[in-house]
Amino acid sequence: MTGRQWLALSLWCVLGTAVAGRAAAQGVAQAPHGALAFAEQQKRIDKLGTGAADGSPPPRVAASAWADTIPKDNELSPARVALGRRLFFETRLSADGTVACATCHDVSRGFADQRPVSEGIRGQLGRRNAPTVMNATFFTSQFWDGRAPLLEDQAKLPIVNPIEMGMPSGDAAVANIAADASYTKMFQDAYGSAPNYADVGRAIASYERTLVFLDAPFDRWRDGDAKAMSADAVKGFALFQGKARCVSCHPINEASPIGSDNRFHNIGVSARHQDFEALAKRALDELAKSGDPEHAIDRLALETDMSELGRFVVTRNRSDIGAFKTQQLRNVGLTAPYMHDGSMQTLWDVVDHYNRGGEANPYLDGGIEPLALSAPEIDQLVAFLFALTDVRFAEQNRKIEAAQRARAKTTRPFRDEALAQRKQIPFEERIRGVQK
Ligand code: HEC
Ligand code: HEC
Repeated sequence: MTGRQWLALSLWCVLGTAVAGRAAAQGVAQAPHGALAFAEQQKRIDKLGTGAADGSPPPRVAASAWADTIPKDNELSPARVALGRRLFFETRLSADGTVACATCHDVSRGFADQRPVSEGIRGQLGRRNAPTVMNATFFTSQFWDGRAPLLEDQAKLPIVNPIEMGMPSGDAAVANIAADASYTKMFQDAYGSAPNYADVGRAIASYERTLVFLDAPFDRWRDGDAKAMSADAVKGFALFQGKARCVSCHPINEASPIGSDNRFHNIGVSARHQDFEALAKRALDELAKSGDPEHAIDRLALETDMSELGRFVVTRNRSDIGAFKTQQLRNVGLTAPYMHDGSMQTLWDVVDHYNRGGEANPYLDGGIEPLALSAPEIDQLVAFLFALTDVRFAEQNRKIEAAQRARAKTTRPFRDEALAQRKQIPFEERIRGVQK
């Protein structure tokens, strides 16, 4: 674990204990590992209203773009979605019966877990931050390093990952549920076959395709409702498209609804702590030894310090060292802490990071450089990011924005005016041997 992760983790422990204490005080029932009780999660999901289960496109999404996100061998149907939803909450798919997808992708926490890194069976911690599953179907690859092409492939990995759900094999997971006659019937209705692991992945993916949340103040503003977004957020959007250059990696428009270019970039999130060359050599050695690359990559990503190599572990291209997938910006207000390692607590931290030009390292993406944003401009950009949260979560979004704003008044660990305004140049520091 890196120094920054330790810091994030200890901060989280303080904040997390406060949140858990509050939940207990309010009598909110909890599931293991800090998730909201599953019965309560199910009620909230019913109340939110999810997307159509019959394959019709969600509002503001073109029929052709929607069709592109659904593989031909797994058309949506109500029976598939119903099975997937049940499996998403199924703790019998985990080795100790305490973990389901809904543990780490909890509706009350933005379909993520709001922790720096996730906690799986027996309280084991992984190396990466859980992204939301909302809108994940729009990505052209899954995970921070894109190691799974489709939601169907992705869903089969956590179940057999030793520190997440820990089942020895897909067949063992299926055996745990196949004895239940109601499952036999649901698989039959959904896929016309007995329970099997490929259809576990397909059904869960079908359910995730109903978790589309693209109705934010930003969308309403773009549709012509001038009052839907605050004046600050409107200015923030102009900065996003212009001076702050966010749009070069986070395009957000009808063709790209979630604000990701679906590519991989090193933006220097944890560069300060890594000897990338030595890590890369170790990863290549590990991969050469393994006869099962898919699961070997999954383990390197979640259980070792080679996690920080990101996309490199998948492609072995030198230029992918420390590169991660451009995360979506939809509903980002709900899912702190941020980045693949959960090292940034607030959206102010994120913008401060970009403003100073990221963290210098030999693999830093050419698109990352100091932005010279003023303090009011930083606030405007953050206001725009909070305007990307679906209106169904408006209340929660407002509370989190207020909490982050209060924190940002006193705590700005990534702010560096000298770098942001180019009074100091990291390259110059490096060749003159100035240590920071
Ligand atoms: C122990 C916590 C945990 C459990 C259980 C878990 N996940 Fe995740 N999930 C994560 C983490 C952490 C990541 C990021 C890992 C990475 O990128 O290497 C992730 C990534 C994902 C992604 C990729 C999203 C993106 O933006 O790329 C999807 C989709 C997803 N999980 C769905 C599921 C499903 C479906 C299940 C149940 C079969 C599940 N998860 C179980 C923690 C968990
Ligand atoms: C060179 C491409 C690039 C540019 C430019 C860029 N980003 Fe990113 N962004 C990424 C990548 C890649 C990640 C994930 C990085 C990681 O975790 O290591 C990311 C992550 C984020 C996250 C965290 C999302 C989460 O759920 O954790 C936010 C928020 C974000 N970017 C906002 C912005 C804003 C605002 C700007 C403009 C100031 C911007 N980005 C500019 C590529 C870019």
